[in-house]
Amino acid sequence: MYSRVKKYNRRIFLKSVVAGISIATLFVWDKMVITNKKNSQVKYITLALQTNKKINFADNFIIINNEGKIKVLSSRCTHLGCKINESKQDNLLCPCHGSSFNLDGSPIKGPAIKPLEEKDFTIDKANNTITIIV
Ligand code: FES
Repeated sequence: MYSRVKKYNRRIFLKSVVAGISIATLFVWDKMVITNKKNSQVKYITLALQTNKKINFADNFIIINNEGKIKVLSSRCTHLGCKINESKQDNLLCPCHGSSFNLDGSPIKGPAIKPLEEKDFTIDKANNTITIIV
């Protein structure tokens, strides 16, 4: 009689543990799925496309028009994140610690050692705008 009660209590205990683990797993899974949904949202920004200058600083981007070949770089310096907003002789200059980058975004003078992030974009020639994927 006693062992039957003990066995019954152990069964309830094991069922409770399994139920608890299942609920915790579902909770963590739900949080992971919500986080992935947030990260997968793509944002766009549309700006006027200026074709009269080789280097345009617009919003948080550097739009480079090299004889009709357009490239978009992030203006965020890869050293500590200052906004690059100046150029000199086809070099992009960071005002904070003196890093400079060529028009491909590669660093040519430190302290930054990583290239500027290149951005994907589309051009709407009819409206003369550029839409950048942020
Ligand atoms: S943040 Fe650009 S060089 Fe330091």
